[in-house]
Amino acid sequence: MNNVEPLLVVENLKQHFKVNRKFTVKAVDGVSFKIYPGETYGLVGESGSGKSTTGRSIIRLYKPTSGKIIFNGKDISGKMSHEEIKVLRTNMQMIFQDPMACLNPRKKVLDIIGEGLDIHKMYSSKEERNEKVYSILEKVGLSREHASRYPHQFSGGQRQRIGIARALIMDPDLIIADEAISALDVSIQAQVVNLMKEIQKETNTAYLFIAHDLSMVKYISDRIGVLHLGYLVETGTTEEIFSNPIHPYTKSLLSAIPSPNPLVEKKRTAFSYDAKEAGVDYSKGTEHLIEGTHTVLATEEELAMWMKNDVELVK
Ligand SMILES: Nc1ncnc2c1ncn2[C@@H]1O[C@H](COP(=O)(O)OP(=O)(O)OP(=O)(O)O)[C@@H](O)[C@H]1O
Ligand SMILES: [Mg+2]
Repeated sequence: MNNVEPLLVVENLKQHFKVNRKFTVKAVDGVSFKIYPGETYGLVGESGSGKSTTGRSIIRLYKPTSGKIIFNGKDISGKMSHEEIKVLRTNMQMIFQDPMACLNPRKKVLDIIGEGLDIHKMYSSKEERNEKVYSILEKVGLSREHASRYPHQFSGGQRQRIGIARALIMDPDLIIADEAISALDVSIQAQVVNLMKEIQKETNTAYLFIAHDLSMVKYISDRIGVLHLGYLVETGTTEEIFSNPIHPYTKSLLSAIPSPNPLVEKKRTAFSYDAKEAGVDYSKGTEHLIEGTHTVLATEEELAMWMKNDVELVK
């Protein structure tokens, strides 16, 4: 990975929302990470930790309050023209949690998936466009017959496949999947994750995979960033995070994953962690390298305590 240029560099990204004269929500408060071509970066954290805000800032639904975002070697964090944002939104696509909410109910699947091609005039004939849609439909495990149907005629899992097809047809370098599978049944989640993995092998599209729990993230991510209260508290390869979690917040997320083994599950104790209660102020911490690519946000004292404090976790 080291000799490859990153596809996306997020550097000290801050996104603050001014709610009123007195109050500002610091939704994202200094987040840095990189995504390399063709890899999957899992961003996890509880509700309100700033995951969607991070994704939305990257695809420029929001202009960052401060910090830098470099995509394909180009700074996309400053002022951008309408035209530049339009180009950005072909190379970068977003898939949302609730496909029903973003699939126009009055449009046929053919036109929903073909919309991006229409907007950017990416074909020379109607036949070529439709053929592209049919081939993408097949790629996501649907068939060309589905093209003439409407979104409400599909199951949740199928609708999510339509969402994926809609993103894929633009041949993006990066897909931001914001809780794309969270609303689906667990078995369907696995199917969609496998599909995304297969597609990635073929297309080399990178994913920013956003989720609130670590269980599915484990199966798709090469690297993981654990986000809490707008800060990345721990980052590393999936292996590093799962085999040697250091931050108590990461440990609490891991302890929440049910084990498929009933004997292990019986002994599992989910433990909770509250930064305020623990007296942890993320703005005082700095990034510490544990080993390899594994980093933890902490003060010296916190790190020393967390490194020796081996909270018994479910094995
Ligand atoms: N447009 C906005 N204006 C004001 N506050 C916002 C806005 N968008 C998000 N926030 C706040 O920023 C924080 C982070 O929100 P965000 O949606 O990024 O969290 P999330 O990690 O995606 O949560 P979830 O898992 O529930 O989707 C929350 O406190 C939220 O209320
Ligand atoms: Mg969200």
